[in-house]
Amino acid sequence: MEAIKIADGIYSVGVRDWNIRDFHGYSTDLGTTYNSFLIVDEKTVLIDTVKEGFADQLFDNIAQVVDPRQIDLVVSNHTEMDHTGSLARVLHRIGEDKPIYCSKMGHKNLAKHFRQKWNYRPVANGEELKIGKRTLTFLETRMIHWPDSMFTYLKEDKILFSSDGFGQHYAGPARFDDQIGDAIMQHAKKYFANILMLYSAHIQKLLDNVMGLGLEFKMICPDHGVIWRQDPTKIIEAYVRWCRQEPQQKAVVLYDTMWHSTEKMAEAVTAGLNQEGVVAKPFHVRKSHRSEIMTEVLEAGAVVVGSPTLNNQLFPSLADILTYMKGLKPLNKIGAAFGSYGWSGEAVKMINKELEAMKFDIIDAGLKVQYVPDKDALQSCFELGRKVARAVKG
Ligand code: FEO
Repeated sequence: MEAIKIADGIYSVGVRDWNIRDFHGYSTDLGTTYNSFLIVDEKTVLIDTVKEGFADQLFDNIAQVVDPRQIDLVVSNHTEMDHTGSLARVLHRIGEDKPIYCSKMGHKNLAKHFRQKWNYRPVANGEELKIGKRTLTFLETRMIHWPDSMFTYLKEDKILFSSDGFGQHYAGPARFDDQIGDAIMQHAKKYFANILMLYSAHIQKLLDNVMGLGLEFKMICPDHGVIWRQDPTKIIEAYVRWCRQEPQQKAVVLYDTMWHSTEKMAEAVTAGLNQEGVVAKPFHVRKSHRSEIMTEVLEAGAVVVGSPTLNNQLFPSLADILTYMKGLKPLNKIGAAFGSYGWSGEAVKMINKELEAMKFDIIDAGLKVQYVPDKDALQSCFELGRKVARAVKG
């Protein structure tokens, strides 16, 4: 990725990681980018670095604008290694004594991570730094999505460097939202659902606070994916909506199956949901990635889970997705369980326990069918789908 001028004296100098397909367990079918930004003023500033292994590309990009040794200071908005993996090499190149501006938690985390006595300059929320004719304002944004996270706002240009916030795992020809259009929203939504959903209430409050400052955003530059320049309010409004997790008339049916019995049940439950006008799709959890499933769960009004009983337990793939889902703390969901079994049939009870732990509203005791579901059993599954749908519709 070459250096791109995004405004006068401001450049995007990050890199594309075209072939990453698994980002710590998140499926990145289109790869991702590690964005980094260069501001050339009286002081030359680098905002965030890139993942380890991409430092040479970063240096090449910076060198298209200035000699990297001219960088006066680094801003580290976030400690996670996709943005700091090249920090040691950057400092080695520009001078180990160059200051690193970061949040107070960023200071703690960077020090623990790198075990180096670098020239840290921890900043307070709202603190400003004059870099010439421009001013950087540091905004603490704890838990979007690490305790160290902060945004940096460039006052005169009205540009927000938002770290992981508003990001998308997308590597492609587009560098700006207007070059890709609405297609980017699905990637932004997937990012929110899998990285930020658990902090929804907190993010909502932070957004209110940041918006309350009356800042204007001409451009929002996240550390992943495209820059929002056409209509930055579009992604902010989407975040406000996603944070609320208002349920739509939509349900997600998750299942695994050994000999197709639980699958038949899943299809009948889905038919019942659809019959009542609730949009539903069955997901075989070994055939859909958990991060895709969570993207569907974000706006669903119900999650219905089916599992066979294997060795007196839940099927392992369901335990996987339910553990992942529990960590992301989805809100406002109705839940129900079903499954086929041979002789013990513990799975339905176990699913209910997991759904209860997520504070889902369990509207049925669950449906267990021994061996292969017959016509009557499938009718019961259909009725379960209808019952869930009616609850979703309120
Ligand atoms: Fe893109 Fe939390 O790192």
